[in-house]
Amino acid sequence: MLTTNFLGKSFTNPIVVASGILGVTGASLNNAIKNGCGGVTVKSISKEPRTGHPNPTMNGYEHFFINAVGLSNPGIDKAIEELKKFKELSDVPLLGSIFAGTPEEFGEMAERICEAPIDFLEIDISCPNVSKEFGDPFAYSISAVEKITKAVKEKSTVPISIKLSPNAWNIDTIAKAAEASGADAITAVNTVSGMMIDVRARRPILHNKQGGVSGPALFPIALKCVYDIYKSVKIPIIGTGGITTGEDALAMIMAGATLLGVGSAVYFRGADAFKKITDEMEVIMKEEGIKNLDEIRGSAHL
Ligand SMILES: Cc1cc2nc3c(=O)[nH]c(=O)nc-3n(C[C@H](O)[C@H](O)[C@H](O)COP(=O)(O)O)c2cc1C
Repeated sequence: MLTTNFLGKSFTNPIVVASGILGVTGASLNNAIKNGCGGVTVKSISKEPRTGHPNPTMNGYEHFFINAVGLSNPGIDKAIEELKKFKELSDVPLLGSIFAGTPEEFGEMAERICEAPIDFLEIDISCPNVSKEFGDPFAYSISAVEKITKAVKEKSTVPISIKLSPNAWNIDTIAKAAEASGADAITAVNTVSGMMIDVRARRPILHNKQGGVSGPALFPIALKCVYDIYKSVKIPIIGTGGITTGEDALAMIMAGATLLGVGSAVYFRGADAFKKITDEMEVIMKEEGIKNLDEIRGSAHL
């Protein structure tokens, strides 16, 4: 009922763990499989190891989560070892994820991460939390998106998905530029830029002051991004942002998504959030007489 074909690969269900949620280790990614997801995305990897921002780096609220982890990761050499371990534990589709400071470095990183047994490669050009180091996210600029997509496409041996930002007002035009430059898919979206202030302490909650907002409050924003992108490109979309229930998941498919990235739902619903969401999808589909997801993909576009 939930089987999904994405760029020629079969997923038992469309839920993939979003990047950054369950880290880089083979064991933690394998746990997500046991908890019911159809695919996993690794935390974004840089060339060198990064410690990320000092604490506090994240906090959860009733309807959203905010983080400024700062892209901490063990670096490409260690990540390749971990991804190899994961593939020994599971043959579930694996999405690599990289970020870098220049188009050339993105190309180099794409070549390196393809030494690991990844099935797809996501390109993180949309993290809102590292602007002090890297400037505005590349996902705000059409020309940067074009250069990075071309550089990665030239070096990658697997299909690539460009991960976009909900802060870009023209996300549909940016997606089209990525498609024209060789992207095989679009991931929409990363967290939206935000901040919280501790009134008693009279200062921002996060050490980095600003962070990325995810979870249920991001859902309507992400849904509209996917809806708009679906109208402007022909390549598949990994709809991501605030998906917490089976109803959210089906709405995202009706907006036009093929796969569904799920992250903060783990905070709101527990480690088995993936299984809860797929169970709820099946209940609604039975009630509504929906036999498969192809039947409803993009159905909200009248
Ligand atoms: C703690 C945390 C770390 C994240 N790290 C990354 C990352 O390394 N790379 C990336 O592309 N997205 C990262 N994200 C963004 C998620 O992959 C996802 O796009 C976003 O959280 C929206 O989905 P959600 O509402 O289901 O969490 C991170 C999100 C959170 C909450």
